Amino acid sequence: MNTPIADYVSAYAAGNAARFHMPGHKGRMFLGPESRDITEIRGADDLYRPRGIIRESEENAAQLFGAARTVYSAEGSSLCIRTMLALAAWRAEEMGLSRKILAGRNAHKTLMAAAALLDLEIDWLLPAPGEGLLSCTVNPETVRKRLEQQPYMAVFLTSPDYIGHCAPVRETAEACHRAGVPLLVDNAHGAYLKFLHPDRHPMTLGADLCCDSAHKTLPCLTGAAYLHIRKNAYRDWESRAEEAMALFGSTSPSWLILQSLDRANRDLAAGYPRRLESAVHRLDRLKRRLKDRGWHLEGEEPLKLSLAPRSMGYTGEMLAEILENHGVVCEFADPDFLTLMPSAETTEQEWERLEEALEVERKAPLREERPDPGSPERALSIREAMLSPAELIPVEKAEGRILADAGVQCPPAVPIRIAGERIDAAAIACFQYYGIRTCRVLRSRQEERHAP
Ligand SMILES: Cc1ncc(COP(=O)(O)O)c(C=O)c1O
Repeated sequence: MNTPIADYVSAYAAGNAARFHMPGHKGRMFLGPESRDITEIRGADDLYRPRGIIRESEENAAQLFGAARTVYSAEGSSLCIRTMLALAAWRAEEMGLSRKILAGRNAHKTLMAAAALLDLEIDWLLPAPGEGLLSCTVNPETVRKRLEQQPYMAVFLTSPDYIGHCAPVRETAEACHRAGVPLLVDNAHGAYLKFLHPDRHPMTLGADLCCDSAHKTLPCLTGAAYLHIRKNAYRDWESRAEEAMALFGSTSPSWLILQSLDRANRDLAAGYPRRLESAVHRLDRLKRRLKDRGWHLEGEEPLKLSLAPRSMGYTGEMLAEILENHGVVCEFADPDFLTLMPSAETTEQEWERLEEALEVERKAPLREERPDPGSPERALSIREAMLSPAELIPVEKAEGRILADAGVQCPPAVPIRIAGERIDAAAIACFQYYGIRTCRVLRSRQEERHAP
């Protein structure tokens, strides 16, 4: 597969032009990659109006991912999530639908920011009792019933989630399509799913719009992401995707990131699937050994290892420290979980180092202390709450107040409560459990106007 962006920049860098254009480093080396760091000069392309090398490269990516159209993002899935919601909101306006989405509560905080910017409302699919905050089992039958009750503008799923749980995307897509509602999937953690056998990518399973953080699992630079659009998903989406992205994105996207996405196409079309397959087998082997030794594993994602180590006598943070002492750095740790993200680039020596580091002494189990997050109560719209005058107060004084922060999140950026929700005792217990000491709430005078 060709690499038009990377080739263009190589030729430009080799041409030794006097760079009387941005950026200010002029291609001189300060950090290392400056000679390849350019901007939208004459002859290069424009990310938000791609007609040349960027368009050609995006078409390569669309072919790889089986999308009608793939658009690059140099600002992660965060930018793609805002873009997906803008596209869905345009469709809703045109069709005279409500600006309300139905979403799994394990959503990343970007969803709340996007809802505030676009003035959308969110009805939630909540986790089952005892499931905690990081995951949210979605039942397609529940989605089907909710869609019968309300004409939502879109359904939004986060799959895989941070600790490796995958939603039933195919069945949910069927329920959505029967009701004429588009399915949007935050697949930030799952770009690699396309290259498994069988392919488990949300676009293959029926998503209408989907974002992948290329940088999370593929060999790409941080910030690299894709927005995919399904064929015939909605007539304007393919032609208006960049216009929607340009509403939120920087006018100076990183050309290093664009080259990284472009270069990845060649690898994804050639050697990557084989390397991925062997990484998945390697992880399978490790998972089996860990299970045999009594570890409790979370999630079913094939390229993620999430441990629930309390049953072995450790919190996630304690285990993270042990791993660090062995030179192994995890992706995420909290009081209950530890998540490791290997990839197709993980070497055998690194796998062995991890395996060795996990040879910890089994201790008396730690009691489960994770508080139940309860059910959120909405008092105001997300946008109204976020734009209201607010004050910062200690969480122990927050009961009954309305949250003004986009969201108070447990790590890793999953909301306990979001802007416009009333803070109750269950929320305060969760804030305290995750070490959150203060939160921003509506000023008292504002709150009186919204008293229950
Ligand atoms: C589930 C989920 N969605 C979206 C994002 C945002 O992705 P990005 O960092 O690529 O902007 C993250 C980031 O961690 C995430 O975990």
